[in-house]
Amino acid sequence: MRLKDKVAIVTGSGRGIGEAIVLRFAAEGAKIVVNDVNEKDAGAVVEKIKAKGGQATAVIGSVALRETVQSMVDTAGREYGTLDIIVNNAGITRDAILHKMTDDQWNQVIDTNLKGVFLGIQCAARVMREKGYGKIINISSTSALGNTGQINYSAAKAGVIGMTKTAAKELGIKGVNVNAIAPGMIWTDMMKNMPPETIKQMDAALPFLVPLNRKGQPEDIANLALFLASDESSFITGQVIFCDGGMKM
Ligand SMILES: NC(=O)c1ccc[n+]([C@@H]2O[C@H](COP(=O)([O-])OP(=O)(O)OC[C@H]3O[C@@H](n4cnc5c(N)ncnc54)[C@H](O)[C@@H]3O)[C@@H](O)[C@H]2O)c1
Repeated sequence: MRLKDKVAIVTGSGRGIGEAIVLRFAAEGAKIVVNDVNEKDAGAVVEKIKAKGGQATAVIGSVALRETVQSMVDTAGREYGTLDIIVNNAGITRDAILHKMTDDQWNQVIDTNLKGVFLGIQCAARVMREKGYGKIINISSTSALGNTGQINYSAAKAGVIGMTKTAAKELGIKGVNVNAIAPGMIWTDMMKNMPPETIKQMDAALPFLVPLNRKGQPEDIANLALFLASDESSFITGQVIFCDGGMKM
């Protein structure tokens, strides 16, 4: 078991990539704080973990709110005695072409995808620096390099990379590793909810866009998150690892 008795928070883990990460972490022995805005999904994931003999509890609420994020850290301490790992995964898209993007679309994405990650890093770091141990994993995106229709999302995801490197510099001496994962096209609801025509066009272009010629699965990201959460990656910090089938090599 690669995470035996470690305590992990994963934000936005009611479905998709976050769900795959908590299921993988729990299977490797971690005790889990599941977070999501969707209470039903979060509850179902907690039940799945418990049904397999694992330990999990849910904190419902938005990562954009300090009280939710602090409550996750407090819950980890109260229920499981400590905090070892946080995966700042919760994210949304509100796509629009530059000249049509509204303030609302901008603010929603920045609040969840940028401020939410800042709050996760900060609240977890306060515990981890005292403890002298911790693993912080932030979910960025290949869109950090720019993507048509995603000026809000790419700003937030590039910001996540900047925060990852700053936090890695500040926390390294305290025994805390901070890294980012930049997923490419991963087949979750986030992608499935795109207009059917866009999905069709992407599928047709797949062999030219993605050298490995497939869409990623949530488990592809969970495997990498497990490595970064485990002590196998103890000499890696401040890195952005692209998990995208070679799309942005
Ligand atoms: N799917 C992809 O192709 C892809 C590519 C690159 C990066 N990512 C990133 O991976 C992460 C997970 O994406 P996914 O594909 O699993 O998406 P998803 O939409 O399937 O799941 C996201 C989860 O986060 C939850 N959530 C949304 N806003 C929240 C908030 N404010 N607070 C707490 N929870 C919230 C949702 O309810 C949902 O359960 C996101 O950060 C996303 O930007 C995804």
